[in-house]
Amino acid sequence: MNYKIAVIPGDGIGPEIVKEAKKVLIEIGEKFGHSFDFTEVLLGGASIDVHGVPLTDEAITTARNNDAVLMGSIGGNTATSPWYKLPPEKRPEAGLLKLRKSLNLFANLRPAVLYNELKGACPLKDEIIGDGFDMMIMRELTGGLYFGERKTVEEDGVMTAYDSLTYNENEIRRIAKRGFDIAMKRGKKVTSVDKANVLDSSRLWRKVVDEVAKEYPEVSYEHMLVDNCAMQLVKDPKQFDVILTENMFGDILSDEASMVTGSIGMLASASLNDTKFGLYEPSHGSAPDIAGMDVANPIATILSAAMMLRYSFDLDKEADLIEAAVKEVLKAGYRTGDILSEGKTKVGTKEMGTLIVDM
Ligand code: NAI
Ligand code: MG
Repeated sequence: MNYKIAVIPGDGIGPEIVKEAKKVLIEIGEKFGHSFDFTEVLLGGASIDVHGVPLTDEAITTARNNDAVLMGSIGGNTATSPWYKLPPEKRPEAGLLKLRKSLNLFANLRPAVLYNELKGACPLKDEIIGDGFDMMIMRELTGGLYFGERKTVEEDGVMTAYDSLTYNENEIRRIAKRGFDIAMKRGKKVTSVDKANVLDSSRLWRKVVDEVAKEYPEVSYEHMLVDNCAMQLVKDPKQFDVILTENMFGDILSDEASMVTGSIGMLASASLNDTKFGLYEPSHGSAPDIAGMDVANPIATILSAAMMLRYSFDLDKEADLIEAAVKEVLKAGYRTGDILSEGKTKVGTKEMGTLIVDM
């Protein structure tokens, strides 16, 4: 098959790490008889330098006309880069927000995987970690508290602020379906997280998730209150497969989950709409402090490319192979600087990419 991929190298380490991910995709294509057409798209600082704006309408159209988007990361040093002298709506991040919105990406997927070989980076105790863990946080991205009506009023000299948390059943149903679909491709377990003992929006969430769950008899599922979930993530992270939750809870829980792995250079992410289309990018930023030095860890971006194969193209075998290659390279003792420990072999960005390709 032929797949069309829009590629956004972005800023900082973006171009270096995206190059390695492309290398891996090309190798997978040759091995399995797929061809990948890459079309470059400018976003963020790279677009400001050329077009004066962080995202052009043509760039949106190009992204939309492809089957998926692979992105590095965008932005510069927020203290020193001239991009941050611009008004907020012209800065690099504004381009990314606009792109996500234009593409209607309502489902944010953030895996938190702790590899056996990188257990040393995890702040949790050995008996909790066991052989490592592998969970997927699925966060609703376009509804809830962050998009609800808000206002601040003053009455009798006292200021009061309001933020509203709104979800309708259709918004809940589409993210819940996505969550169960993804669980079917993984460990077939969903933990739906809410605060149904207090919030009406959570009670509706629970009702709709119950309905959706009936369509997936193979998936075991449970409800968990968000405060308990925050605790369980550090008490027993191995219990989780897919965590399905609304916008703000997902924001907080996904940051917590990523920190218990201890390795920012390893964490992939995806944002999906209601077709097979998705935007795939590492969870980390553009690391301007190490840009152009061939030291950045390309693994988060390579694993994001694997997610693209799995979730946008249904190429599960191919995605499995990339993930297995990453594990093999780690097992063989190769590390970029951010995950280096005693007795391991230090390699650069390009060499790490080549090792994964050759594995
Ligand atoms: P950052 O994630 O870029 O860097 C934080 C620290 O982690 C730095 O010390 C960096 O060197 C290190 N690091 C990050 N990725 C790494 C990798 N692959 N290999 C080795 N080390 C790595 O976060 P920071 O410094 O807060 O932000 C830098 C820029 O990135 C800012 O302009 C920020 O707005 C932008 N950013 C962009 C995101 C995106 O494109 N989605 C997400 C987060 C931040
Ligand atoms: Mg956050």
